[in-house]
Amino acid sequence: MKLEWSKDNIVFSYCTEADLKEIAEMLSKESVCKYMFFGPTTEEDTIAYFSPLISSIEGSLKEDKIPHINVFTIREKDTGKFIGQCALFPIEFTNGNYLIGYQIDDSQWRKGYGSAACEFLVYYAFNVLDAFRITGDCTEGNVASEKTMRRSGFQSEGRQRKYWSHNGKWHDRLLFALLKKDISKERMEALKTTYQ
Ligand SMILES: CC(C)(COP(=O)(O)OP(=O)(O)OC[C@H]1O[C@@H](n2cnc3c(N)ncnc32)[C@H](O)[C@@H]1OP(=O)(O)O)[C@@H](O)C(=O)NCCC(=O)NCCS
Repeated sequence: MKLEWSKDNIVFSYCTEADLKEIAEMLSKESVCKYMFFGPTTEEDTIAYFSPLISSIEGSLKEDKIPHINVFTIREKDTGKFIGQCALFPIEFTNGNYLIGYQIDDSQWRKGYGSAACEFLVYYAFNVLDAFRITGDCTEGNVASEKTMRRSGFQSEGRQRKYWSHNGKWHDRLLFALLKKDISKERMEALKTTYQ
């Protein structure tokens, strides 16, 4: 079973316990969590959240099954340097519909890694999972996240008003989605060529 995927100098691999310290460090930063509905989180809380996900991933992989929740760590291929993480969460009651998530460490912003993560999730959802749709969301004002999704072909699907409360303020949630049928044959072939 394939356990990692790479493009140029980036490698995506299933998240393991060994990644937790760097993930916790990233999610402890105000800068990274500014537009997120959670965080900054303590190392203890980050570990408590991710450990069961990691156990579930490891359990599936041991049985040679694709994990139910897919969380990936992103690193530089040559050096192993931590870049960030990305994930696909199944949405309950709609088989084949997945919510995406991604966080890039602030020292690595604006180098194309967010876009690369989104593109990888598009590949994985439509080729490894049985997805027919990927759902994305971000807080209003998270221009980088919105651009990242639009770059991968996500379309706007609306706004949920006053959805999140963060630091005493309410934020609207912007909704996006990409359907498998929106992807051209050429683009799907190119994704397969890159990652298979
Ligand atoms: C959102 C995030 C993943 C983008 O990562 P990134 O590696 O900087 O993204 P890229 O370099 O691929 O840039 C994608 C686009 O966003 C733009 N962008 C990046 N940072 C930006 C910023 N701070 N303000 C405005 N635009 C920005 C880039 O210029 C690029 O635009 P383009 O398509 O017009 O060229 C990253 O900022 C991040 O992890 N933020 C904190 C966590 C977060 O908010 N996650 C998303 C939750 S929904």
